[in-house]
This record gives sequence, structure tokens and C-alpha cells, in this order.
Amino acid sequence: MLPFMLSLYSKSLLEIIEILEEQIVTICEHDIIEFKAYNPDLEDKKIIIHTYKTWLDLAQILKCKMLTPQVLDEEFVLMRYKKLSNDSFHAVDADKEEKYGSESIFAQIHKNEETSFIYHYSHALKNVNLNERTRILNLGVNNGDEFEVIEKQASNFQELKLLGIDYCHSAIEDAKQKFQAHNNVDFLQADIKELHSLELGKFDLIISIGTLQSSNLNLNEIFMSVVQNQLKPDGALILAFPNCRWIDGEMIYGAMMRNYNYSEMSNLYKDVVFCKKYLQQKKFRVTITGKDYIFLTATSIRK
Ligand SMILES: C[S@@+](CC[C@H](N)C(=O)[O-])C[C@H]1O[C@@H](n2cnc3c(N)ncnc32)[C@H](O)[C@@H]1O
Repeated sequence: MLPFMLSLYSKSLLEIIEILEEQIVTICEHDIIEFKAYNPDLEDKKIIIHTYKTWLDLAQILKCKMLTPQVLDEEFVLMRYKKLSNDSFHAVDADKEEKYGSESIFAQIHKNEETSFIYHYSHALKNVNLNERTRILNLGVNNGDEFEVIEKQASNFQELKLLGIDYCHSAIEDAKQKFQAHNNVDFLQADIKELHSLELGKFDLIISIGTLQSSNLNLNEIFMSVVQNQLKPDGALILAFPNCRWIDGEMIYGAMMRNYNYSEMSNLYKDVVFCKKYLQQKKFRVTITGKDYIFLTATSIRK
């Protein structure tokens, strides 16, 4: 289908949003909508020039991917939005354990190559003094992506002992394959609900990214049990709560809640605040950072 071409440069952003919202519902998934806008590189104080940040935010709100704009001339660019599909891996009705397996849409995601993930994860690792955290546990490790960052960032990687847990068989097999050359890295296919009975002892650092809010887990219960039974009193914790969805490989800002067709963050705030308050009572210093993933980083004030 031929792209729509609209001329929107003389309009306010509010008008542009209304027009694009009306148009987007009329086109099919993966169709492209095009509109003429002022070239964001222009420096003309007499007109309002929208930035690429504005256009990128708008693309995400409209559930579109922003394609490379075409420079028409010094004054104008052609903005191009591609409508994303409705489905995401969140909606996939796969086996619950294989929902995030090696054959899933999730396996095609490279979150370590997304600025708003890797920047904040890497900072969280620095903030917990990674090199001093000998025993490290990752809950919901999937294919081991998060250990790859530790491998790059720790100056004493071989001296650390890492254990990753996930109930997804194919993801754990991928992780084992990835780290087969490292005898200090182990992976265990197990259910987080059974963690206490695995008798793994206590850890210096526990990481869990995008996992503890899973519908099969009771976050408050699991979280308190992990802190009481798996974390050393002077240990550290890095939790990340998704504030995004993945659609067609795109990380779309904003947590999604059942029964809402727009981003709604009540659950996200409730869970983050619960974990923060609990850790503060247990004498941890807690910081909250991030954007598409909200990172809660906790270090003991006993240390
Ligand atoms: C959204 S994915 C996040 C994976 C990885 N941390 C990341 O951010 O890319 C959630 C992971 O937790 C695992 N998981 C969910 N519930 C689990 C449970 N009860 N026991 C073990 N693993 C679980 C899933 O198999 C999946 O790999």
C-alpha cells in the first residue's frame, strides 16, 4: 500500500497528534504514514521546530516505528512512521515455561543494545561495587544476557561465582552454551517458587530483571523470602521492573496493564515502592533509576 503523505509543518503538536491518531487507525499493520515537517536541524527562532526527540516520542505513543526521515531540502524533512503489529510476546499463548524460550519472539530481543537499558544496568552494577560481590544470583536469567554485561564489566570475572536460575528449559540450554568456557558460571533450570528448598545458601548480589512481577509469582512473598533467605546481610540487590513493551523488536515506553489500551503505571509504582520500603526497613540504601526499565539498586548500610 502507498504511504499516506501529510503536510503538518504549520500545525501545533496537539493538532498533529489528533490528525495522526485519526490516520493511524485507518491503516494496516506495517503500513507507512508520511508527513512533511520542518527540518529539526534548522535554527529559526521565528517558527516552532519540533525535535527528533519529539517525533520519536510521538511515534512510540502512536505504536509506530520511526523510520529514517528523508531530507527534502534545507527547510523540510519527510517524517515516516511504520505502524507496528498489535501482538507482542506478552500476548503469545505459549507453554508458560517456554513463553520466553529460544524459539520465542522474546529471544530476538537484544536489550543490552538498548541505551536506556544498558546504561542504567551498567550503572547499577557499578553502584553495587561489582568486583566485591563474589557470589551472584540471577533470578529469571533467561539466556544469560545479563551475565555477559558482568563478564565485560568485572575486572575479576574469573574470581566471581555466578548462578542463573530460570524454569525455561531452552533458555537455560542457550545460557549454558554461551558460558561453556567459564567454570565459574552455573545455570539451573528451576522454579523461583521452589528457591528456598534448593538450599543454595546466601549471595553477595542478587539480580532479577523483568521477572518478579510475572503473573505466576507473588512478588511481595517471593521478594521478602529472597531478601530473608538468599541475601547476605551486607549483600546488594538489583531489580528491574519493565516500564515498556516489546513490539516487532521495538522497545515501546510505558508499562502495560490489563484492561488498559494505554500505558498505566499503578502496578509498577506500587511494586517498586513496596520493595524499596521493605529494603529500607532491613537497613538497605535504595536508589531508583532508569526509564524503560526502572532499576531498584540496594546496598546494605551495614557495609
Ligand atoms: C520477561 S523474562 C526476563 C528475562 C531476562 N531477565 C530479561 O530481562 O531479558 C522473565 C524470565 O523469568 C522466567 N520465569 C518466570 N517465572 C519463573 C519462575 N516461576 N521460575 C523460574 N523462572 C521464571 C521466564 O522463563 C523468563 O526467562
